Amino acid sequence: MPARATDCSRHTLSTPTPTRFTSSPTPATTSANSSPPSRLMSESPAPFPPSPARPSLAFDRKAGSYDVHAHVQRDTAAWVAEWLPPAGTFATCLEFGAGTGNFTRHLESRFTQLEATDHAPAMVAQGRLAFPSVTWSERDAWNPADPAGTRDFVASCSVLQWAADPVGVLTRWRRLLRPGGRHLSGIYIAPSLPEFGALIPERRPFPWRTADEWSKSFSAAGFTDIRVDTKTREYIYPTARALMRQLHGTGATIVGAPLAAGRLVTLLRDYERVHRRADGVPATWTFCRIEAVA
Ligand SMILES: C[S@@+](CC[C@H](N)C(=O)[O-])C[C@H]1O[C@@H](n2cnc3c(N)ncnc32)[C@H](O)[C@@H]1O
Repeated sequence: MPARATDCSRHTLSTPTPTRFTSSPTPATTSANSSPPSRLMSESPAPFPPSPARPSLAFDRKAGSYDVHAHVQRDTAAWVAEWLPPAGTFATCLEFGAGTGNFTRHLESRFTQLEATDHAPAMVAQGRLAFPSVTWSERDAWNPADPAGTRDFVASCSVLQWAADPVGVLTRWRRLLRPGGRHLSGIYIAPSLPEFGALIPERRPFPWRTADEWSKSFSAAGFTDIRVDTKTREYIYPTARALMRQLHGTGATIVGAPLAAGRLVTLLRDYERVHRRADGVPATWTFCRIEAVA
């Protein structure tokens, strides 16, 4: 476990784009009915081909150890949850990539019907045990087959950064919403784990996008009233090995592509050499919370 976490910087975007950003530090007061309908319930099917699959991730194998190691994801979920609407604002919510329920915990009391989903069966099983009053199901977040216009709220936390095709995925998610429905996501953005990126660039599982790139993807997917906020935080670990153990324990690794033992030893040694300080070794994460209206 990290000795401590330090907030390094915090930004609310206000870059002028076709999208409207708000810089309010408090949750939006927009009600579900205050935005004009931006689409018809009978909108035609997505013009996008199905999202390409990413390499298999180890989340299903690590469902049993996820909660022990997921302190970064827990912090992210609590921070993103600050932007959730008060209970009673919206009735139905669909959560993607719910894992064991880190973010579900914050959603549970705010919606009358909450469905938490994940594509990893073992994560769904863990989540169901921890939050039995929530409806749980297996679902591919990138290509959900749910009918259009049937939800008031769509949520996700610590998931979207894995999407290979953000505009396609977000377009599908928007279509699940009723006109005026709302979306809230927590996403890791650049700079996240830059310490590893510099030492082992060939193993980067995906390009970390920026907050601006994400807001443009939301806009391209047809969302409006987009509000974005970021926070960069440094976590200090006793050793590079402890940091690596934490990352592996959450399952955020690619199945079938282990680092050769020699390469792992070199990586940990280099991490210590480059990043060791008096209080330990740091790992930087940047969280982004993004809210938008369908
Ligand atoms: C880092 S965990 C986050 C879990 C939880 N939302 C949290 O805040 O702790 C990412 C989760 O997304 C799920 N996931 C990744 N890709 C997915 C996909 N295409 N469809 C559904 N779930 C997916 C994984 O199985 C995993 O449970």
